[in-house]
Amino acid sequence: MPAPVTAANGSEAQRDKLREDPPEKTCLFVRVPNFSYACQAIVVDRVPALLMDLTHVASGDDRALKHQVAATLESVRVLDRETYVHTYLAPAIAADAQPGQFLHIRVSHLTAPLLRRPISILWSDGHERVQVLFKVVRTGTALLAAKREGETVDLLGPLGTPFPYDFARDAVMVAGGYGIAPVYFLGKANRSDHNRRTLIYGARSADQLYLRDELKEAFDEIIYTTEDGSLARKGRVTGPLRDLLAARENLALYACGPTPMLAAVADEAARVAAPPPCYVSMENQMGCGFGACLGCVVRTHEGFKTTCKQGPVFDAREIVFDTAAR
Ligand SMILES: Cc1cc2nc3c(=O)[nH]c(=O)nc-3n(C[C@H](O)[C@H](O)[C@H](O)COP(=O)(O)OP(=O)(O)OC[C@H]3O[C@@H](n4cnc5c(N)ncnc54)[C@H](O)[C@@H]3O)c2cc1C
Ligand code: FES
Repeated sequence: MPAPVTAANGSEAQRDKLREDPPEKTCLFVRVPNFSYACQAIVVDRVPALLMDLTHVASGDDRALKHQVAATLESVRVLDRETYVHTYLAPAIAADAQPGQFLHIRVSHLTAPLLRRPISILWSDGHERVQVLFKVVRTGTALLAAKREGETVDLLGPLGTPFPYDFARDAVMVAGGYGIAPVYFLGKANRSDHNRRTLIYGARSADQLYLRDELKEAFDEIIYTTEDGSLARKGRVTGPLRDLLAARENLALYACGPTPMLAAVADEAARVAAPPPCYVSMENQMGCGFGACLGCVVRTHEGFKTTCKQGPVFDAREIVFDTAAR
């Protein structure tokens, strides 16, 4: 039996062949419409129109879907018992990666877990290597953490929208917990003399503020907050953010972290007389990762949008935050 061609992994030639000569039977993974994530595999008869639609999702004109590669895990850095930095050799992805985008990682060669896990790109050297920083949550991330240097890992990416970046404004980047990954990439990739890059980085305690040495290179100014007061200012990121917004002008905000933190950052931005642009990276749970299953939608003022393809980076004014924290 030939290897299955999916909307995600088919080559252009394979997809052309599918368009011209659709198979008798097609297996579709369909999201059950109840906003809890459930994917059901159904086998349907010949459906050229739908197939066209799915192949379009994965076609070359779609900047959201780039490369599926078998990447070598070059190095593993253990930051603490549950937090890891992986460096992958993945030149095609490294060449295209931009801050705010993510990798959709297949954590197992087996059928379970079936779904890939989305992890933000922490850094790309632009031609060979990409890095991610991740926390072990449950099964998927535990399997990823168990991988050893030299192993091959199936990566899809870079996916999603990058942060827009405005050199004409001073950047205030706000990160909560593991949200530091895309924010670090954004700060480091945009080092310049044109504007000032300030990082406000908060966590529960000092030991959960990661990569502090590396952050010094990426930002002009760093303000830490800890909820338990174990380092720097006690409290949440919104305290120093409010002070900065009151004291400075011509800012742009960029944020990644838990949804309640993003909602608070958006509120602070909106309180200012002339609200600065504010971009947030949403971390909704995902299924396919490229816009086909609708498992990741977020409510916006223009209706539901997919976090994986129309996001994860959104203009904060678009998001209806009370329902975004699903
Ligand atoms: C764009 C994006 C970037 C991210 N970047 C980072 C990062 O840089 N570092 C980091 O540590 N974490 C990041 N995360 C979070 C990370 O993806 C999760 O922690 C990880 O998927 C957990 O996987 P798990 O198997 O360990 O946990 P589980 O909770 O067992 O599995 C989570 C996965 O199961 C599925 N799932 C389970 N329940 C639901 C549901 N109700 N609705 C939809 N799907 C469900 C989804 O595939 C989901 O990804 C990011 C998430 C997103 C969306
Ligand atoms: S994860 Fe499938 S549409 Fe976003």
